[in-house]
Amino acid sequence: MLEGKRILLIITGSIAAYKSLELIRLLTKAGASVEGLLTDGGKQFVTPLSVETLTGKKAHVEMWDGESYQMNHIELSRRADLVVVAPATADFISKMIHGRGDDLASTVMLAKNKPVILGPSMNVEMWENPAFKRNLEAAQADGAAVVPPQIDELACGEVGVGKMAEPAALFDAIQSHFALAASLEGKRAIVTAGATIERIDSVRYISNFSSGKQGNAIALSLAEAGASVTLVAGVNCENAPPHPNLASLTVESAEDMRRVVHESLPADIFVGCAAVCDFKVANRSDRKIKKDQGLDHHFEENPDIARSIGTLEPQHRPQVVVGFAAETDHLIENAQKKLSSKGCDLIVANDVGGGAVFGKNENTASFVTQNAVQDLEPMSKKNLGQAIVAWVAARLKG
Ligand code: C5P
Repeated sequence: MLEGKRILLIITGSIAAYKSLELIRLLTKAGASVEGLLTDGGKQFVTPLSVETLTGKKAHVEMWDGESYQMNHIELSRRADLVVVAPATADFISKMIHGRGDDLASTVMLAKNKPVILGPSMNVEMWENPAFKRNLEAAQADGAAVVPPQIDELACGEVGVGKMAEPAALFDAIQSHFALAASLEGKRAIVTAGATIERIDSVRYISNFSSGKQGNAIALSLAEAGASVTLVAGVNCENAPPHPNLASLTVESAEDMRRVVHESLPADIFVGCAAVCDFKVANRSDRKIKKDQGLDHHFEENPDIARSIGTLEPQHRPQVVVGFAAETDHLIENAQKKLSSKGCDLIVANDVGGGAVFGKNENTASFVTQNAVQDLEPMSKKNLGQAIVAWVAARLKG
């Protein structure tokens, strides 16, 4: 499965670095070609010699090591298919998201043009630290996949989340990455994301809490799988993750979103992840309504974008249409109704009761199809994006 795949493994300063040696062994045994890069911290825990012995290649440690004409910081990611940072310390993730480049590893991350998988490793308080959480969220928003650490007794003696995932779990994540990598080559996909907004007057609007994180994660996973993706996102949606296969268009209202989605056809895949406002203000004002005028609004139903795609004539309908059902009650029952009323092949159902989903990085969902309901484990939005892409790819294969 990993035959001929080229992996750049960055080892940063954590006791978990010894497990990275085992990861190299698993990867090379599976046919991958691994190049190692150690930070100064990484070198404190494992030696470049160990890494070189297992990879069979020079281990990189210095920015300027006599090969400078090759510009190591650029070359290293160019000749890799994937960059894995394991262990990834809190400090290294912080450097990554701030665009720092004060050593070879951080400069490689700045200059990289390849997908990234992180295997964080740290003390539980560091993992729970709000500053670190913000950084990890930012790294994920920038497109990094995270293999979460485990709950256990940590090397420092404290108990909690922080222990780096086992080499086998990192290996599985790397393998799934490559399994998806070329699965949608040549396919075109449209994804809607985030909240639409409906104007009340020239300064006010109605909307909802959707952040667009899940739609962004799906669009990125589709792009990483080789599809050419058009992301149609609400104005307040988080920034689209950067990827050469991904073009992002911003829209305001449901009407705009419907128009842009239809203009973006034809497509092989449609994923409706946007939280589209069901109603628009029929008598909206072009001027600011004064307080003493009071509010007296009438609403009209918006077009259902997912339905308008799912029920297209077969020659125009994307082969795979995926919708979402965000519900607070009777989740599966409502998802099953949406599956047929919107003409979808898959409904991703998630319980949004108690603010458990909007704006968060985690999601708990069920896949609802004509014949089955599959409950998924809680996972990051990025991982759910990959699971949806795996489902889509399998469906397209028939
Ligand atoms: O009917 P409901 O809004 O719960 O359906 C959710 C699904 O339908 C999501 O996939 C959403 O993106 C899509 N939808 C849409 N246009 C609407 C309303 C919902 O595409 N006007």
